[in-house]
Amino acid sequence: MLVNATDMLNKAREGKYAVGHFNINNLEWAKSILLTAQEMNAPVILGVSEGAGKYMGGFKVVADMVKALTDSMEITVPVALHLDHGTYEGCYKCIKAGFSSIMFDGSHYPIAENVEKTKELVAITKALGMSLEAEVGAIGGEEDGVIGAGECADPDECKAIADLGVNMLAAGIGNIHGKYPANWKGLSFETLEAVKAKVGNMPLVLHGGTGIPADMIKKAISLGVSKINVNTECQLSFADATRKYIEAGKDLEGKGFDPRKLLAPGAEAIKATVKEKMELFGSVGKAND
Ligand code: 13P
Repeated sequence: MLVNATDMLNKAREGKYAVGHFNINNLEWAKSILLTAQEMNAPVILGVSEGAGKYMGGFKVVADMVKALTDSMEITVPVALHLDHGTYEGCYKCIKAGFSSIMFDGSHYPIAENVEKTKELVAITKALGMSLEAEVGAIGGEEDGVIGAGECADPDECKAIADLGVNMLAAGIGNIHGKYPANWKGLSFETLEAVKAKVGNMPLVLHGGTGIPADMIKKAISLGVSKINVNTECQLSFADATRKYIEAGKDLEGKGFDPRKLLAPGAEAIKATVKEKMELFGSVGKAND
């Protein structure tokens, strides 16, 4: 039912498009993304952060929910369920819970420790037929109201991690999570090219997909990015549509307070955002590649 992400990402790299990784937060998120992927005939990766996993009641709840949804909604496009920015312990929990893919984010460790832990997880995921994403060069983002700049990864460190046999590599190229500040310098294509030259055919992952201009996304794909992560943009679309519904007083009309009605505009807004991203990433119609 769930597949690992290796095959879909290798095909994306060959075909010069990127598979969308969309973070999920609850049932509405998972349903909206799966239905859009099916409608667009696009492969998809559902990303789950450790915080979101906890929020949904634990990784096993998430894995069982996603598996049951793909089954009962008759989703036939390739779907990978992926731990996003996993800790060492979180990776083991998701392996046990039945995820098909994990990311070990060892970017905050000294490189030798990142190598050592990633190596161990390569052996385990390979034996279980799962896919593994590793990270070099921390992705910036907002923490306590301060927006940290995205690091640029060291290409030699990227090679050291890629050579361990991971299936995809997230390399910091000045990208950050959340909204980009007005003075953001843009993606460092120089770094991306240098990383690509060192790691060869390894599918590269671009985090912080929210708010990156379309021309930069296209250029990143042309330079080897095969997976693009989007989280905040779906949250903003959902919140905006929900606010409009409430501000229009619709929750006060008839049974407009029923969660199935109250959450419907937000769920539709997530679908529209996912569709737009899949079109931009070029993954529409690629499910049977
Ligand atoms: P955004 O929230 O900026 O879209 O980033 C998502 C992401 O990279 C998840 O790993």
